[in-house]
Amino acid sequence: MAQAALEAAEARFIANNPLSKKQHELAVGALPGGNTRTLLHTSPFPLTMKQGKGAHVWDEDGHKYLDLVGELTAGLYGHSNPIIRQTILSTFDNVGLSLGSTTVQEHKHASLLCSRFKLERVRMANTGTEANMHALAGARHYTSRRKVIVFSGGYHGAVFSFPAGKAAPNTVDKDDFVVIPRYNDTSLAMNTIKSTPDLAAILVEPMQGAGGCIPGTKEFLHAIQDAAHEVGALFILDEVMTSRLAPHGLGVELGLKPDMVTMGKYLGGGLAFGAFGGREEVMAVYDPRVEGSLAHSGTFNNNTLVMSVGYKALKRVFTEEACGELNERGDRLREKLVEVTKGSKIRFTGRGR
Ligand SMILES: Cc1ncc(COP(=O)(O)O)c(C=O)c1O
Repeated sequence: MAQAALEAAEARFIANNPLSKKQHELAVGALPGGNTRTLLHTSPFPLTMKQGKGAHVWDEDGHKYLDLVGELTAGLYGHSNPIIRQTILSTFDNVGLSLGSTTVQEHKHASLLCSRFKLERVRMANTGTEANMHALAGARHYTSRRKVIVFSGGYHGAVFSFPAGKAAPNTVDKDDFVVIPRYNDTSLAMNTIKSTPDLAAILVEPMQGAGGCIPGTKEFLHAIQDAAHEVGALFILDEVMTSRLAPHGLGVELGLKPDMVTMGKYLGGGLAFGAFGGREEVMAVYDPRVEGSLAHSGTFNNNTLVMSVGYKALKRVFTEEACGELNERGDRLREKLVEVTKGSKIRFTGRGR
């Protein structure tokens, strides 16, 4: 019976979305599987979106949807924020897109990120994946060690993903990761941390995102932070998804003091962005004035458009107050959803928005 219902639903989907179907058939001629971002592939074909306005998106067949995907938190500002629009236009008109030099604006954005998220120093990148890559390279350089502990279900970017207790096949430096099979299992983590030689860092999300929106308990996160320090490893908090969950990020909210924090998503104001920061002494591994420091390159690391838009969006739109309100609304929505689905197999996890 379930199979018949599923087949009927699929037939309806195909009949209702002829232009998305046609677009998919065209796209496979240039993109493998018609896709350039695996997450977005669905069978028999994904919907092709045509336009976003405010909090809504429209597909090629003209259907209107409430955009609850929110570009997986990068779309936090919606599709039509006037401050973001104005900043894009004025940067183009008055500054230029890429000046091939340092600018005042990158310092402004860096200072804002430092004060908002309680970091001593920060460096920019283009994605959360890159931010984690550089943070790990920095930790390895700082400690002169190689191994990194991560947790099953952890997602730290396109080439750092650890589903089902194992590094995904495309993980970079795969053999250097030790994957703890259960998140939030303090005693298992303690044993592994203490018995892993050559440990450079523990990399963890304070709430697992791709792993199912599982909040880390305060006790677990503090215990692994302390254990990392006991064995001389760095504690790196991946806040690419979670920095939006509290005015100064989820780590600060939980009283954590990570050596490094990685960020991205909405902090580019809706444009591609990543950043990693932390203690001055640790971040000094990337200080080009210091002999033997690590290089950190990236043509677009400090591009004027993202530095301007990310800065304005955080300073003027996603203020500390707005952050509090948004997350309260998210909590209320989830509580309601839990209430109305009581007794069914549907589960809603997470915190905030
Ligand atoms: C926790 C976490 N870290 C890192 C990343 C990677 O960010 P990006 O997709 O910008 O490379 C993501 C993306 O979803 C993420 O959720």
